[in-house]
Amino acid sequence: MLSFDDIPVPTPQGQAQNSTQTAVTGAAQAQGAVAATASSPATMDFSPAAGGTAISSVSVVPAGGATGIENIEVTSHRIKVDEKKIINCRADVNQLVPFKYEWAWQKYLDACANHWMPQEISMSRDIALWKDPNGLTDDERMIIKRNLGFFSTADSLVANNLVLAIYRHVTNPECRQYLLRQAFEEAIHTHAYQYVVESLGLDEGEIFNMYREVPSIHKKDVFQLQFTQELADPNFHTGTVATDKRFLRNLIGYYIIMEGLFFYVGFVQMLSFGRQNKMTGASEQFQYIMRDESMHLNFGVDMINAIKAENPHLWTAEFQEEIIELINEGVALEYSYAEDTMPRGVLGLNAQMFSEYLRFVANRRCKQIGLAEIYAGAKNPFPWMSEMIDLKKEKNFFETRVIDYQVGGALNWD
Ligand SMILES: [Fe+2]
Ligand SMILES: [Fe+2]
Repeated sequence: MLSFDDIPVPTPQGQAQNSTQTAVTGAAQAQGAVAATASSPATMDFSPAAGGTAISSVSVVPAGGATGIENIEVTSHRIKVDEKKIINCRADVNQLVPFKYEWAWQKYLDACANHWMPQEISMSRDIALWKDPNGLTDDERMIIKRNLGFFSTADSLVANNLVLAIYRHVTNPECRQYLLRQAFEEAIHTHAYQYVVESLGLDEGEIFNMYREVPSIHKKDVFQLQFTQELADPNFHTGTVATDKRFLRNLIGYYIIMEGLFFYVGFVQMLSFGRQNKMTGASEQFQYIMRDESMHLNFGVDMINAIKAENPHLWTAEFQEEIIELINEGVALEYSYAEDTMPRGVLGLNAQMFSEYLRFVANRRCKQIGLAEIYAGAKNPFPWMSEMIDLKKEKNFFETRVIDYQVGGALNWD
């Protein structure tokens, strides 16, 4: 039986040399390494007849289920587009071009063009309103605090999932390029919530610990964390029907349910303040965030659909049922969050309206990934949201209010 000590250690990235990893020994680790090797670039044909001249060849040992830290093959074999796949790919994940998934590269460029920073938005009017004892009702204050409480940790969960779970298994460099940009945007979002909390002088412990104190937030976070925990396990490897389905399940859990459903009660609530000329700075922050999230969602949809197209055997009726169940569960969790943030009607909204809205949004999400609508006839009770976020658009839907970030320049405000 192989032990971890038998496995050559990749040195350029230094990952397998760290003491924590080398301390992990045993059958599970060795099994993981063997399983990963089976689908690694080591199986490529580097012979001159295949178009490449192998100068030397070394064993390829992905550690901890991650792709991209294998030993570098010395070869003149150059990557061809048709060798690229989103998962379980045999082409070198470190070579960005030639592009196969133009949509991924384009989204990376669009995301960079939409760059923004929280400090560019004035919070002065919000501060005055928040400090005015008669500025906001208790219910309004609770909506703001609970949304900051949920989002401040939600974006960390998304970032952790990207970095610790998804990224290591995505075997396409242009998709990875977007994931890196997305990870930075999640950091900006967490920064934005911190900036609002600091600006308003809120109790940071109360806000940032809310995911451990408010049941509906805790339940949403636990629901999401299950997906990360599974894929972050060093013994998890894609490459089998069962694990490829679990990978897809994670993508749907985060891109469709977290970023495509769990964010939308909060978006409606926070944008409603702005529509009533209250908390305009915080509302503006959420608008920027929603623009980014809309693109994250669309990237996720494209990636999910590309994996489905490349691996149609994964999308069985049984698996679709499992996904529909997950989305159903997500709708119930988000409705409970709506009730927790808004026990009484306020801002022209009430929890019941969110029930209908979530069913409407869930239908759209199902359609986007090729599932039948779950909730027949669900209508959008917030048509103004469609004006602000045309769910089909990926960028620039706030053109009237937000000027695109210019590299090397500053945002201009009319
Ligand atoms: Fe985010
Ligand atoms: Fe996101």
